Amino acid sequence: MINLSVQVGGLRLKNPVMPASGTFAEELAHLLDFNQLGALVTKTITTEKRSGNPMPRVCELNDGMMNAIGIPSKGAQLFIDKVVPFYRDYDAPLIVSISAPTAQGFADLAARLSDVPGVAGIEANISCPNLEAHGQSFGMQAESTRDVVELMRQVTSLPLWVKLTPNAGEVVPVALAAQEAGADAVVVGNTLLGLSVDIERGRARLGNFMGGISGAAIRPLMVRLTYQCAQALEIPVIGCGGIATADDALEFIYAGASAVQVGTATFLHPKTMNTMVSELEAYCRRKGVASISTLIGALDDLPAEPFGALP
Ligand SMILES: Cc1cc2nc3c(=O)[nH]c(=O)nc-3n(C[C@H](O)[C@H](O)[C@H](O)COP(=O)(O)O)c2cc1C
Repeated sequence: MINLSVQVGGLRLKNPVMPASGTFAEELAHLLDFNQLGALVTKTITTEKRSGNPMPRVCELNDGMMNAIGIPSKGAQLFIDKVVPFYRDYDAPLIVSISAPTAQGFADLAARLSDVPGVAGIEANISCPNLEAHGQSFGMQAESTRDVVELMRQVTSLPLWVKLTPNAGEVVPVALAAQEAGADAVVVGNTLLGLSVDIERGRARLGNFMGGISGAAIRPLMVRLTYQCAQALEIPVIGCGGIATADDALEFIYAGASAVQVGTATFLHPKTMNTMVSELEAYCRRKGVASISTLIGALDDLPAEPFGALP
């Protein structure tokens, strides 16, 4: 019997596979088995209702996609009344992704969710590049990350995961700030800001002009950031970005991820995460690995310098 369980930021998960925020919702319940997942992560919610960005909000790329959805939200109250009860039927812990325009707004929402039965943890989306001009967000700087995480930490004892952005050129100092401010885990990470041009019309392909790149195109970047964060941090790192198969997930795990999130791949094949869990088990069996947690950070041939030589 292979042990796929992992310890992630205050929670014991039965396996390391969970959805990435914004790519998973109640409607998928008839397409994949939620009970086979390590955790369930909701779309980012905000306190107030938000309408989101102008259309088109997504476009395809050769090796992934771009989105500028803009966090449309029906507001926290409707979420608490209608969505949280739906998830109480499932075993996997429910992680609620939150966002707010101010640090105090993040804290208020975290505090409010902490009293809701069925909410097992909070993922702070301090990284969404579409909320503010030019991709600026709390997660771009260590200081603003520290401020917002500290405020949330003061008001919630729930496991607090902080989702980082690869758009911060130096992600490790931001991750360290999140850890010092009391985060229980970091997610590495959100989409990478891009611009795709429709050359027939001479216009940006997204209504919001710029958007976040996701899918296979960003995977090596996210594996590298996962590795660097895992080297620097004591808290667990959750890897995310272009994961579509167990092999992809294992790259992140070897690089130091304690768990992984799957986003874009679910749009192509809704059962991707279920298949991944079986394939992770098969990999462990083939390799004689009794517990997948022994593979976390097991990457061999570490560079002499912690960040490696420049290419
Ligand atoms: C359509 C779409 C919507 C997303 N919405 C959110 C969101 O609400 N909150 C968030 O933190 N990340 C959001 N993301 C980012 C994903 O959670 C994930 O970090 C990113 O897509 C990289 O993973 P992937 O390559 O597996 O998709 C969204 C991504 C996509 C493609």
